[in-house]
Amino acid sequence: MEERRAPRLTSRKVPPVRPLADIAEDAQRGLTRRPRSMPPKYFYDERGSRLFDAICETPEYYPTRTEDALLGAHASDIIAEIRPDHIVEFGSGTARKTRHLFDACDDRGRATAYWPFDVCEAMLLESGQQLVEQYQRLRVNALVGDYLGGLQGLPEFDGCCLFLFLGGTIGNFTETQAGKFLSEVRAVMKAGDYLVLGADRVKPAQVLHAAYNDSEGITAEFNLNLLRVLNRELDADFRLDRFEHRALFNSDASQIEMYLVSSLEQSVRLEALDKTLHFAAGEQILTEISRKFTASRLESMLCLAGFSVTRHLEPENGYFSLLLARPD
Ligand code: AVJ
Repeated sequence: MEERRAPRLTSRKVPPVRPLADIAEDAQRGLTRRPRSMPPKYFYDERGSRLFDAICETPEYYPTRTEDALLGAHASDIIAEIRPDHIVEFGSGTARKTRHLFDACDDRGRATAYWPFDVCEAMLLESGQQLVEQYQRLRVNALVGDYLGGLQGLPEFDGCCLFLFLGGTIGNFTETQAGKFLSEVRAVMKAGDYLVLGADRVKPAQVLHAAYNDSEGITAEFNLNLLRVLNRELDADFRLDRFEHRALFNSDASQIEMYLVSSLEQSVRLEALDKTLHFAAGEQILTEISRKFTASRLESMLCLAGFSVTRHLEPENGYFSLLLARPD
């Protein structure tokens, strides 16, 4: 008789548990008020995701390769300490860095279920297919949704669960948003589960400035891509040649701030909102904050959200942190 096996790659939708604003509502709220702003999640359409990958390859953008090296160096210890049955990753993208953990699971003969959580099902299935081909013991259960819509819609995991929030994305959140998100993660965790959090650190301003102003102009293109997204999704007529990329390190707030600056006085029509925006020359749209933390600030942020930190990994130059934490 033919043996029937559960497929090693599945996907399911995770519905938001609270209403999530859509791009029209976010644009209505963010672009009509001063200072103007848009949430950074709208960068990541297909083109924007490819541009972000290209940013990670630039010599100036150190976070990805620093975190990758840290994970590579410590994956084996991390897996030995945590021994996860499940690995859940918020904002998994193509899961490039996570492979270090799968390698370590493989080396130890652990059969693990990977639950990448991201908005784009096509991308999840494509990278999931590559993963199950490469790792014979791995099961991949893609979770399709927006983790900002809440986590109560996640399945229940039996066994030890390792939650990952990598890349420094926590830096895109304000202090309040970050606290809320970490508390939400904490609330779905059981005793014995772990969180691994990657976060970018404070460092000399010129290093930070260069990372967000790469010499090839890829970050500029990434920033301007937001206007393409608005043009497409809201039937708008932003002219990309009339806005400029600006990124600066605000040392008081300890964050990179990324703006699109109107090069001249102009009007922009957003047909889907039935709105015309008037920009003065030099007027800006805040498109992203990327907070830079001290080591102690990261630890207290996790404590405040109900975690105890078991390990704090960093490279010699202290450019990036990987923190292991469990519910306290
Ligand atoms: C993916 C949010 C970590 O803040 O450094 C890269 C995004 N923006 N260059 C970051 C980003 C400009 C990135 N994160």
